[in-house]
Amino acid sequence: MLGPHLLGVEGLTPDDITTVLDTAAGFRDVALRPIKKVPTLRGRTVCNLFYEDSTRTRLSFELAAKRLSADTLTFSAGGSSVSKGESLKDTALTLQAMGVDAIVIRHSASGAAHQLTRWVGAHVLNAGDGGHQHPTQALLDLFTIRDHLGRIEGLRVAVVGDVVHSRVARSLVQGLVTMGAQVDVVAPPTLLPPAVGAWGVSVGHDVDAVLPKSDVLYLLRVQRERMGQQFVPSVREYARLWGVDRDRLAHLPAGAIVLHPGPLNRGVELTADVADAPSSLVTEQVTNGIAVRMACLYLLVGGGADR
Ligand code: NCD
Repeated sequence: MLGPHLLGVEGLTPDDITTVLDTAAGFRDVALRPIKKVPTLRGRTVCNLFYEDSTRTRLSFELAAKRLSADTLTFSAGGSSVSKGESLKDTALTLQAMGVDAIVIRHSASGAAHQLTRWVGAHVLNAGDGGHQHPTQALLDLFTIRDHLGRIEGLRVAVVGDVVHSRVARSLVQGLVTMGAQVDVVAPPTLLPPAVGAWGVSVGHDVDAVLPKSDVLYLLRVQRERMGQQFVPSVREYARLWGVDRDRLAHLPAGAIVLHPGPLNRGVELTADVADAPSSLVTEQVTNGIAVRMACLYLLVGGGADR
């Protein structure tokens, strides 16, 4: 049973994940209607609390809440009392006093979403906490994979790139392993987390070795903003050794798909022509993200999840 919060993929069962994906499949049709709204969360209030930059995730959660007819508030740390030194706790207590039903939080500190659950009665949805978790991204990726390939179990998925800084990789790999996929994590040695040995995946450094056997190629953004020191000799060298161009793309089996969470560094982890190739589902991931977030909000806030 899902809820009351969605803090990570950790702890979700295959049934929980399947429930989210099936519910999202139902909500996807709402986007195809002339009036893109259902009354499910009418009278409920959802607050987006964003302490870190975001385009896709913030807009997607906002649209998901609006399509469910919830009232939405969006809080960005810039332009708020955070610049006057207000703590996360005091901001949380303010939202609590305003009676919000759900808080979607993105924060640069790992554990921020979990911490929030100790201070508020609202449902908390983690939209990315530091290098820790980003569960709705993983769920929308799983949705996109299942939608295209008909299943997740038994697929071979290569997750390539800046794994050490990636909350997306942590969440996605947990989801894939939970659903029975076989995962190859591929990265330069400096961009692998020390604990990757415990992830239940195979680990390598050679992208060319995994391409011919991958049903899904998942490319991660090189997170230059999180790199305090030099992790790769140069961006050009990274692109040459781990970046995917047309030649590399041609080594994927027929029918394989390419995913990326965005934002893209065109010319680094993938070339522009790969980003725009028919097998690249980057924009479809964005579309599916709205339905998946509607499902998560519905299941937690509207579906009677235990508090
Ligand atoms: C990711 C994030 O912010 O963790 N992006 C996203 O949510 N779509 C991945 C990234 O920034 O590389």
